[in-house]
Amino acid sequence: MRQTWSLNTDWKFCYGDITETNYDAVHKERYRQPHWIKSGNHGVAKWGYDDSDWIDVHIPHDFVLENAEYDPQVPASHGSLKKGIGWYRRTFKLPVDAVEKRICIEFDGVFRNSSVWVNGHYVGAHLSGYTSFAYDITEVVHAEEPNVVAVRVDASEFEGWWYEGGGIYRDVRLVLTDSLRIQQRGTFVKAKPDPDGEKALVVIETEVASHYEQAISFELHSIIMGPDGKPAGKSVVSTVISADDTMTLTQSVVIQEPLLWSIDSPELYSLKSTLVKGGEAVDTYETVFGIRTIVFDAERGFLLNGQQVKLKGVCCHEDHAGVGMAVPAAVNEFRIRRLKEMGCNAYRTSHNPPSPSILEACDRLGMVVIDEVRQTDATNEGLSQLTSLIQRDRNHPSIILWSLGNEEMNIQGKASGVRILHAMQKLAHKLDPTRKCTYGMNADWLPITRYHEENGFHIDVHGFNYMMRRNWDAYNQFHKAYPDKPFIGTENASTLSTRGVYRKSSTDCSLNLSEHGKVTAIWSNPKREGLVSAYGETYPLWGAQPEEAWKAAEEYDFVGGLFVWTGFDYRGETFPYEWPSVISRYGIMDLCGFPKDIYYYYQARWTSRPVLHLFPHWNWAGSEGEMVDVWAFSNMDEVELFLNGNSAGRRTVPEHGHAEWQVAYEAGELMACGYRNNQLVLTEVVATTGEPAQILLSSERTVLIADHEDVCIIQAAIADAAGRIVPNADTLMTFSVEGPGQLMGTGNGNPESHEDDKSACRSAFQGLCQVLVRTNGAGGDIRLIAQAEGVKRGEIVIHSETSNKRSIASALKHAELLPTGTGQRDAADGGV
Ligand code: GAL
Repeated sequence: MRQTWSLNTDWKFCYGDITETNYDAVHKERYRQPHWIKSGNHGVAKWGYDDSDWIDVHIPHDFVLENAEYDPQVPASHGSLKKGIGWYRRTFKLPVDAVEKRICIEFDGVFRNSSVWVNGHYVGAHLSGYTSFAYDITEVVHAEEPNVVAVRVDASEFEGWWYEGGGIYRDVRLVLTDSLRIQQRGTFVKAKPDPDGEKALVVIETEVASHYEQAISFELHSIIMGPDGKPAGKSVVSTVISADDTMTLTQSVVIQEPLLWSIDSPELYSLKSTLVKGGEAVDTYETVFGIRTIVFDAERGFLLNGQQVKLKGVCCHEDHAGVGMAVPAAVNEFRIRRLKEMGCNAYRTSHNPPSPSILEACDRLGMVVIDEVRQTDATNEGLSQLTSLIQRDRNHPSIILWSLGNEEMNIQGKASGVRILHAMQKLAHKLDPTRKCTYGMNADWLPITRYHEENGFHIDVHGFNYMMRRNWDAYNQFHKAYPDKPFIGTENASTLSTRGVYRKSSTDCSLNLSEHGKVTAIWSNPKREGLVSAYGETYPLWGAQPEEAWKAAEEYDFVGGLFVWTGFDYRGETFPYEWPSVISRYGIMDLCGFPKDIYYYYQARWTSRPVLHLFPHWNWAGSEGEMVDVWAFSNMDEVELFLNGNSAGRRTVPEHGHAEWQVAYEAGELMACGYRNNQLVLTEVVATTGEPAQILLSSERTVLIADHEDVCIIQAAIADAAGRIVPNADTLMTFSVEGPGQLMGTGNGNPESHEDDKSACRSAFQGLCQVLVRTNGAGGDIRLIAQAEGVKRGEIVIHSETSNKRSIASALKHAELLPTGTGQRDAADGGV
């Protein structure tokens, strides 16, 4: 039967290139020359190569972040982190019966330009840093001896214009199957509910491969398990496959009273496909899918299961504090949950094929997705990247659109752009007839659309990035010109804000405006010109304040929705500043996922929960008597503000705005009371705090699964003696972990921090810091201790659980590999 082994643990890593790669095999010195290329002679990938001075690493791994060399020569757009080349080695033993198996090694993502060798044999190269890939290594592995895989990664080039990291930054696994097997990504499940909801037709395509040297009779059992884990339908077919051949089988199953996948109720079905040969099950493969309908309509926007749903979306890059691009599944899950809590229901994987764990979290938590290729390209390379994306991802119920690219200004309004988009859309329809395509077009949509139409190209769903020249009537104008064309705002707002920063004195950023920033940044409030404050009044020429962007999308039914740039800050794109800024300020949350104030504007508008958020903080010692702008984001009708018990006035909250007061500072307590229909619904207090006195550690989760992969995301807050977070504290903390866990990294969201994310020491930024701790596979209590000078230390205990319960990162299936060798040259190196 199929076995899937995680290969994430126990890798060795060396930063820099290795040029002497030949092995001193039987013929000794002469054949070590780098120009003597023979099969199986690659030294780094041979058992016995001396990697004793390489470091131990765990996949996912981002060596650019780990190397932590901030360098002003590296463009700020890429986070000013020095890039380069690195090598990985991993030794593994296979069970003895593996000689009868087909063996594949699967990589979910390596940034970028990787070459892989196994046991001295070159097995392939993969250029794209974002698509997943796999190699069949059956002929070059041994069951009786240890095996070695070596991977060279050249991350010195860019693919995008943001921080992209470097290394094996997504999961790796070995898959052992019978010679009769279901191909990797070999199932495609198309599920269609009846309009009356009584039943659903599920059409299953299964691609089977045989490596046997004779024809084989077999049965394919396709069993569908319902969201309750019970069988919901099945189909069995018998057939014969010729020697060394592949074939695609199609089956239909009817499911009675299907539970539909939706944003509020993400019901998941699972298809268990089993190949039975001579009465014995020889391969099994699981495909998670959902049953739902998606429609884009020129009048009503987006419809999910027949219901109109306004897309309240965000665009995101994959980058997080402490880990860079190597975001573990548990951290991706945390990020999607944070977005859901804000009321966000849609995610655009800008601008590249995402980590599978993002899509798994969106399926499980109920978040629709636009899945995007890296470039608009119809060469062999471009079409193969699109094919790879669609074949990998087409079973995810969360995906509602394939995006053929973003803002390709060099081609989008030209004949070549028309040809390329046309070829891509045609291929996407062929690979997945169940979904439509979009493309994120910037600049002037009307003339570009007109050009496309005149030249015979019709994108399925128009994707519009921003409003040119702040023309808020642009959606309406488009709809009037093309009343039969559905569209969405694929990229919007680009509001800039810095968590916890409200006044010029608290930052010297304004000294470092980039040339581009000087020309294109807009400060809508001249009071804070030059400062990217947390009020969210700064944006690029093409951008907007959150209130403006949402109003434009909300106003008309025919606008499918919007995708705010971005859900989270990411490294790079430090606009409008340059060095020493290294992190963007576009996020609704910072790089750690700590909400900025504008998070609550969206939450107030995007959820039906009562929301009242008051800011700024109230620690302005030395500014007594000075006027401070106090704002409330809220979905209450009215908010009344009190300073130390005295009313500063009751204000109506405009639907696309906020309540605002100017208050002369005096220490004490600001209190906001939120009213609906004149009834008091919510109060919110912001108080002047005392000096830093203690560290408070907290986490949403205190139980982890001891699977080497699960991660606890811990907030470290600097608090006063009363337990109130000190909003401007930048206390330097030192973290230590006791028990079966490991410190993975830290972050604080400060866009100018050059502190090492992998160090155990980290300053707070505006009172907060984040620590990521991973289980090391053993059960027991993990204790994180945080210490700092002059304050009481903080402690938190997280339990690492060895039970078989599926983890929060439950999509990962883990199996221990047999003990690995260290790679030291020794007697086991037979034949050398
Ligand atoms: C868009 C672009 C994004 C990002 C954003 C910043 O034009 O598609 O990748 O650069 O601008 O505002």
